[in-house]
Amino acid sequence: MACSPNYAPPFSQCFLSPRSQQDIERDEQIYSSYEKLTSQLPIFNEWPPYSLQHYQSFWITAMFIPACMAIQSHFNPRPSDILLVTSPKSGTTWLKALSFATLHRHSFSLSDHPLLSNTPHQCVPFLEYLFSHRTIPDLNVLPSPTIFAAHLPFPLLPRSALSCRIVYLCRDPKDTFVSLWHFLEKSRISLSTEDKSEGLDLNKAFQLFSQGMAPGGPFWDRVLGYWKESLRRPGKVLFLRYEEMMEDPVCHLKKLAEFMGCPFSTEEEKNGVVEDIVKLCSFDNLRELKVNKDNKASLEDKRPPPSSFFRKGKVGDWVNYLSMEMAESLDAITKEKLHGSGLSFESSTVLP
Ligand code: A3P
Repeated sequence: MACSPNYAPPFSQCFLSPRSQQDIERDEQIYSSYEKLTSQLPIFNEWPPYSLQHYQSFWITAMFIPACMAIQSHFNPRPSDILLVTSPKSGTTWLKALSFATLHRHSFSLSDHPLLSNTPHQCVPFLEYLFSHRTIPDLNVLPSPTIFAAHLPFPLLPRSALSCRIVYLCRDPKDTFVSLWHFLEKSRISLSTEDKSEGLDLNKAFQLFSQGMAPGGPFWDRVLGYWKESLRRPGKVLFLRYEEMMEDPVCHLKKLAEFMGCPFSTEEEKNGVVEDIVKLCSFDNLRELKVNKDNKASLEDKRPPPSSFFRKGKVGDWVNYLSMEMAESLDAITKEKLHGSGLSFESSTVLP
């Protein structure tokens, strides 16, 4: 396969090494078997533009299931690599920018930074896209460490993923839902061609989300998977919350850097390097960049436009969309599902 145009270097390198006819046929066979398995899974088409399929107890975006299977069998990160995992709409874009800028802070100046001309998603690719090209990417050609991202629930991660460090970011389910609803609606509009499918109204979408039927859902099972693993292996899984990062980004960036194995030195802290990175990656800064304002979706791989990843960037925006009854209902489900785990979203339910 030729290199994918969607990956800024060096990710295109994963597809460039010469491959024998045998390798090509092997990958063809692998992906054909994954597609066959995928076609047998229960499918759900009610929340456009992406179909969901029920795979290993989670609702996964259908077009990524063969890639998930490929990740499960062929993702072998190095211990130095870092895997960012999030629930969709929990601040993935922000976490990608912060970790990329932190890890590579000695390589780039802030005035000529890759994040000024590439989206955070180009700097840190989703494994689900990297493995969706009917070719097993050769990740060993990438510099060590490399940062990858994924939306995969913990039970779906291969055991090999546990050799690297994992950062998990979650967000209050009410804001996650509202952000998701807007995102899917914007994606539907920008991806629709002749097929003018109707959008899903907020009330119906809310019912589905509450029943666990959302990309990567049920929301609670996914969060609990990483929460429990972060308690079991705190040195290997860092559990972060969007609301806490918004409240004190400097403190959380220091924590993130330390976890990633590249702590800020006293000298760097004195020179304001942490604050500089927080500023570079802030919502207001990233959203205004030409590359992130791009409104064009990629129809070929159904990729939503870069602009759809930047909406409001606020804590508590749910209050503008959900009735108090809806909020109470989702809070009650969350309380029940997380009961006894030590995890709670109660403190993040702050009215703006
Ligand atoms: P809202 O829709 O509530 O505004 P993801 O990156 O996981 O897709 O999540 C998208 C959410 O993160 C959106 O939330 C988006 O606005 C917000 N976001 C994007 N970049 C951000 C940043 N730099 N800082 C804070 N929030 C950000």
